Amino acid sequence: MIFSFLLPVHNILRWIVLLAGVVAIAFAVAGWLGRKPWTRTHLTLNKIFTMAMDVQVLVGLILYFISPMNQVALRNFAAAMRNADQRFFAVEHIFGMILALGIAHGGRTLAKMARDPWKKHRNAALLFTLALLIVIALIPWTRRLLPF
Ligand code: HEM
Repeated sequence: MIFSFLLPVHNILRWIVLLAGVVAIAFAVAGWLGRKPWTRTHLTLNKIFTMAMDVQVLVGLILYFISPMNQVALRNFAAAMRNADQRFFAVEHIFGMILALGIAHGGRTLAKMARDPWKKHRNAALLFTLALLIVIALIPWTRRLLPF
């Protein structure tokens, strides 16, 4: 069943998103505060972070419609709004993560568009940090940390 394959993928991808985010932010902050030049490494790290987010959100969108738990919530949305667990996945998790995806892409685009290397690093550092904080806040940490 596709659900039992995609849920573990979604679980593991969370760690890849977090790792890619932390590395991209570390390079952006070091470049910003250290007034370093903007290099191909920065471009690549920013791309890896936003791509990891893209894949994770895509897998999440599929899960949203095939997850048995979420299907129950979608069938009776009003009742799901009164149940904290169901509401979390039906509303908070999806909207927060899509917002974080938009902010991460905004950070990458504004880093590319700025002329000054210092501003490129600053844009990536600030918007990636905001995106990653939202992701961290909306990961269901009470569920299993690894799928095996
Ligand atoms: C960076 C973005 C995201 C991260 C880090 C993330 C992380 C996670 C994690 C760690 C779980 C628990 C997995 C498990 O129990 O093994 C989960 C479950 C889930 N996620 Fe995400 N998620 C993200 C984005 C999304 C998006 C955008 C959606 C919907 C469009 C989504 C839909 C779901 C659903 C429906 C479940 C629960 C499935 C079930 O157990 O029936 N996720 N997510």
